[in-house]
Amino acid sequence: MKKFYVTTPIYYVNDIPHIGHAYTTISADVMARFRRLSGMRVFFLTGTDEHGQKVEKSASSMNITPKELADRVVVRFKELWKTLNISNDDFIRTTEDRHIRAVTELWQRVARRGDIYLGEYEDWYCTPCESFLTESQLADGRCPDCGREVERLREPSYFFRLSRYEKPLLEYIENNPEFIQPDNRRNEIISFIRQGLKDLSISRTSFSWGIPVPGDPRHVMYVWFDALTNYLTADGWPDRKGFWPADLHLIGKDILRFHAIYWPAFLMSAGIELPRKVFAHGWWTVEGEKMSKSRGNVVDPFRMAEEFGTDQFRYFLLREVPFGLDGDFSVRALKGRINGELANELGNLLSRTVSMILRYHGGAVPEPTPSRLRAELEKKVMALVDVGSDESVYRDMATAMDRVAFHDALSSVWRAIREMNIFVDRARPWSEKDEHTRANILYTLAEGLRIIALYLYPFMPSSSERIWQTLGLKESIEEVEKDPHADISTTARWGGLASGIKVKKTGPLFPRVQ
Ligand code: MSP
Repeated sequence: MKKFYVTTPIYYVNDIPHIGHAYTTISADVMARFRRLSGMRVFFLTGTDEHGQKVEKSASSMNITPKELADRVVVRFKELWKTLNISNDDFIRTTEDRHIRAVTELWQRVARRGDIYLGEYEDWYCTPCESFLTESQLADGRCPDCGREVERLREPSYFFRLSRYEKPLLEYIENNPEFIQPDNRRNEIISFIRQGLKDLSISRTSFSWGIPVPGDPRHVMYVWFDALTNYLTADGWPDRKGFWPADLHLIGKDILRFHAIYWPAFLMSAGIELPRKVFAHGWWTVEGEKMSKSRGNVVDPFRMAEEFGTDQFRYFLLREVPFGLDGDFSVRALKGRINGELANELGNLLSRTVSMILRYHGGAVPEPTPSRLRAELEKKVMALVDVGSDESVYRDMATAMDRVAFHDALSSVWRAIREMNIFVDRARPWSEKDEHTRANILYTLAEGLRIIALYLYPFMPSSSERIWQTLGLKESIEEVEKDPHADISTTARWGGLASGIKVKKTGPLFPRVQ
């Protein structure tokens, strides 16, 4: 059985969760569910990044300890993942013992390689980004990434010989075009490395909220050395062999340098296999503006889910913007997608299908008559929907998912939904006199919806389950997802829907919003 290991960044606990956190985690959840459905053994990891100067500062401004702050905020993250129906297999906190052990071990391996030495750091530091900056990197004296103030540091520090890895990294990235995606981000990383890599400061002495450096507890480890290692810790490293290497690190574009340069360099140094892919998504603005606390326009994912529905919110985030590009969030756009694609195109199709089966067949899914010549349109629906057909939208969906192109995966499924809407309008089952023909039309609609629900399940798990329940199916899609012996290549075969089962009348799948 093939394995798939997908991760989100671990989130800082100095801030409560917002749309940016929700975005990465939802995208990882969609990927994890998709891979499980296609029969893979999946490990899906998320968690919290609890050490470092930024968390320490936040806590002290609130007059609590950093650990108290972490314990408080971690609850919010866990609640959000529940609300958003996130199916992570583990949740890692960097203050856990298992993590401290793994990071200490990684440090020692890198040190044994001769890649760590003691020196003095004298330059700039951006605490919000937890990043070291040189004079020439500053933009008008500020952080080039977040635009905030930087501070001057001068303190003893351990350094990692990043310069040693300049050539091996470049070679690796050039020989493995899939390693860093999308391409424009990959090119940015290549030119960054080409400008030359200086050794990296990996410890601090001016504060104490971190993992002590082995053998020299006056130093705490640099929070990114600590944080990146979470991907190994949760997999059981170094004690047991688990899912490593990660198949996909999903991150935002702002933290690509840490994942595409530092992380692979640490791993090369320690002699550990590199992750297969690092994919950086874009950033959300809100109604055209940068999202920030001072502007007061931070989008609260709890509120969105409560007001518009979890699946609606998940769908919007992955449909609205091509994954990898920046996008703009607005309630108007969200409502437009809910009323348009979700309510009109999908929800309506389900309610029309169910009410016709109720009206013409007493609520029982009709028996199709395979020998009867099927209309062209009916054949087209089958060809688009059936997982086994050459023209199946599932094929496009699967290649889109390999490219981490969630928006394309959704448009592929929507091609089938639109075709079914065209089919029902042209086939006009309500004015069909021939009983067999009408039975075939209604079976095609019900069976099409059953399979489409499977395809949409990674994106909108509860709504997909509701489609199955409405069609009268006893099983749940979650069972297919979890069952190592069931996968989409058999479940989404045309004809799997048994005739005679009773559909259920229910309210709208996606209520319209004003
Ligand atoms: N702790 C580090 C990650 C360590 S991973 C080993 C960190 N944490 S964070 O809490 O700041 O969360 C970062 C994630 O949220 C990033 O992937 C970032 O891109 C994402 N976003 C933060 N604001 C965002 C938007 N406005 N839009 C989209 N994503 C954004 O960095």
